[in-house]
Amino acid sequence: MATLEQQIFDAAKRLLCDASGCHDFDHTLRVAANAEKLLAAYPQTDAQVVRLAVLLHDCARAEEDASSGKVDHALRGAEKAKTILFQYGAENSLTEKICTAIARHRFRGQDIPQTMEEKIVYDADKLDSLGAVGIGRAFHFAGKFGARLHNRKEEALAGAPYGKEDTAYREYLVKLRHVPEKMLTPFGQELAMARLRVMDEFFAELEKECASAE
Ligand SMILES: [Fe+2]
Ligand SMILES: [Fe+2]
Repeated sequence: MATLEQQIFDAAKRLLCDASGCHDFDHTLRVAANAEKLLAAYPQTDAQVVRLAVLLHDCARAEEDASSGKVDHALRGAEKAKTILFQYGAENSLTEKICTAIARHRFRGQDIPQTMEEKIVYDADKLDSLGAVGIGRAFHFAGKFGARLHNRKEEALAGAPYGKEDTAYREYLVKLRHVPEKMLTPFGQELAMARLRVMDEFFAELEKECASAE
């Protein structure tokens, strides 16, 4: 018989196969790989909680996208995960820990990740917004809304979200370059800083190439 983790892996894969490119099952697999690095650095952590929470952390993302942001995918995801985990016979105490980590993985407002397991799920997810993957995701997202390939810093900062000036560069300036400060584990922060350096170099080069075209 398949293990709980294998069953949840299959369930997550089914649920996320129609999700958008930035939050599809590939994203979940990359977050899982990030989580393994963090688990190796913090071996006292409950790996089962982390692995199952990672697999299900974005299971309600499509609902948030379809509602234009009205549904909070972290909270809705926690509810959905509870049903899924019950279906596969997970113990209540395990389900509780997984669902809390999912509810807190977004870290907006008051619901701050508290346990090491919750912090690792959060950091593993955040790492996927940085580095070469982060660059790819930023362009993927900007392209979906018809944004320009690149713009000047002043244009980017004056631009509105989801508009023509909401470029990958804007995402980097406004959000992504501040992600390392928001990491919750020391090793997660170290990894985030290394990935940010890749982005710093990329956007500096993009600036240079585009400036020579003006
Ligand atoms: Fe998420
Ligand atoms: Fe995610």
